Amino acid sequence: VERTLVLVKPDGVRRGLSGEVLRRVEAKGYTLVAVELLDATPGLLAEHYAEHVGKEFYQPLVDFMMSGPILAVAIEGQRVVEGFRSLAGATDGTLASPGTIRGDFARSWGSKVMQNIVHGSDSPESAAREIALWFPKL
Ligand code: GTP
Ligand code: MG
Repeated sequence: VERTLVLVKPDGVRRGLSGEVLRRVEAKGYTLVAVELLDATPGLLAEHYAEHVGKEFYQPLVDFMMSGPILAVAIEGQRVVEGFRSLAGATDGTLASPGTIRGDFARSWGSKVMQNIVHGSDSPESAAREIALWFPKL
């Protein structure tokens, strides 16, 4: 069965939305495989966001991702990678469709565009790589 990595980012944890995200994942029918609240390190984020290293928003993104605890969640189900991306909605919270996690809970303006509540792996290959990073014992 397919797995994906979900992160409730520091803005989501701070706003008390961890349970809401887990509720939507479970209501959709996906299974929780592992859950851990942790503080990200610069090294972990450099690997997690390898595709963004060097971009102008990289350092602000890392600072944001280290601004508080993150809830890392590995979930499982048929087509869960696509399915969770669909639950999360578009990257830009202002434009994300209502009914999605970002569309319902995230706004974006100025330097807050990166504060979009959740992360979801973008392919099965990314998911395997990211789950190994965040859950080395799985
Ligand atoms: P994730 O599920 O978090 O990976 O989001 P995504 O796949 O929808 O977006 P992407 O992987 O392209 O970017 C990762 C994260 O970087 C986004 O979720 C945002 O938090 C942030 N980000 C992406 N693009 C921009 C940008 O143009 N400006 C800023 N400031 N942040 C960005
Ligand atoms: Mg991404």
